[in-house]
Amino acid sequence: MTDAVRSPRIVLQNNGVIDPYSLDQAIGVGAYQAMAKIVEEKISPDAVIDIVKASKLRGRGGAGFPTGLKWSFTAPGEQKYIVCNADEGEPGTFKDRLILEGDPHRLIEGIMIAGYAVGASRGYAYIRGEYALSIERMQHAIEAARAAGLLGGRIFDSDFSFDVEIKRGAGAYVCGEETALIESMEGRRGYPRLKPPYPGAVGLWSKPTVVNNVETLANVPPILLNGVDWFRSFGTEACPGTKVYTILGHVEKSGLAEAEMGTTLQTIIDEYGGGVKDGKRFKGALIGGAAGAFVCADCLDKPMDFDGLQELSAVLGSGAILVLSEDASIVDILDGILTFFQHESCGQCAPGRAGTPALKRILTRIRSGEGRAGDLEQMLRVAKTLNATALCPLDQSVLLPVQSALKHFRDEFEALIVE
Ligand SMILES: Cc1cc2nc3c(=O)[nH]c(=O)nc-3n(C[C@H](O)[C@H](O)[C@H](O)COP(=O)(O)O)c2cc1C
Repeated sequence: MTDAVRSPRIVLQNNGVIDPYSLDQAIGVGAYQAMAKIVEEKISPDAVIDIVKASKLRGRGGAGFPTGLKWSFTAPGEQKYIVCNADEGEPGTFKDRLILEGDPHRLIEGIMIAGYAVGASRGYAYIRGEYALSIERMQHAIEAARAAGLLGGRIFDSDFSFDVEIKRGAGAYVCGEETALIESMEGRRGYPRLKPPYPGAVGLWSKPTVVNNVETLANVPPILLNGVDWFRSFGTEACPGTKVYTILGHVEKSGLAEAEMGTTLQTIIDEYGGGVKDGKRFKGALIGGAAGAFVCADCLDKPMDFDGLQELSAVLGSGAILVLSEDASIVDILDGILTFFQHESCGQCAPGRAGTPALKRILTRIRSGEGRAGDLEQMLRVAKTLNATALCPLDQSVLLPVQSALKHFRDEFEALIVE
């Protein structure tokens, strides 16, 4: 790491430092101090929301919605819920798993503070079913916190009572979408609901519900503890803080990296990923998971945050960065993405049922050397139609990888058709 690159650890501060099974060690590095400060200094729920608003923390689950604003939109009600979205079904993404496995008490405290802010007495962590170790460590941490009186009735002798329970995901990508997740929690098939109403008004069991990503909630305790100015000293003006990326593909070192918002793709590849594998030429990257966008070498020096990537018609999405060297075939990678979408499309709406297989059929034709003139335009038309007409954001989002692959790497597809 060069001196010029700051590498702050906010979310991953305790990962690899503490034993995730030890409440004492977690408390030793500051766990539950933010909640204690709220109680001690009598910071009201509205004031907590104001602090999170002022921090400009934006949701790390994909859409980048301002967290404080989301909390403030929660409708009034006797019973409200916080749901921590730990479904993490996006291919190539494992940041939330490692947060859960490395520092579960941080997450419990984040869920608890969100509950306090919106007036919820119950939180749920909806964890991807395959994440056995995450579930085990989170369960262990919940029980330890409960036994120590850090969860349950009258936390820190205040009037605030709160508890957390784990729900196991059933193994569908679509269940990461917040309303499908709620349907699944209620025991039904994970079909996304039409929005509005949003979960903040009509959520779990029709009660006002806040759904936040793991990384979002893991940012909350340090913001309360260290203050807004501290948090905003990292990252960019519009997107403060850090982003946890999973770096994979053609890099020397794949894995997790926490980098300031606004760090360029070049820096992430070189400083965190150890450079493109075997000294090969960088061809492009898929940023944000399967529902993300391909970018080319022109994007290497652009600051990456929610807004910076939007200018490049790309998204931060799940924070997965698949680095591709000159050896990669964009056509093959898009084929993998379309296979994934066809498999995971929930089948609720007709455009989704027909559209994802149609895209896959055209690309299969191109890959087998039987592509026709007009096939690329046809793919784009189908993807745009899906985006405009599909009921849920899963099928809508297939446009981004298709459009960006054809924008930056069209010649690869054309070569297969011409040949
Ligand atoms: C198909 C699909 C899958 C999603 N999967 C996840 C997921 O695994 N984890 C997550 O936090 N958000 C996921 N989201 C986004 C959620 O719907 C929601 O926006 C997010 O949990 C809100 O949290 P945030 O405000 O903290 O970002 C997914 C969205 C879609 C359309």
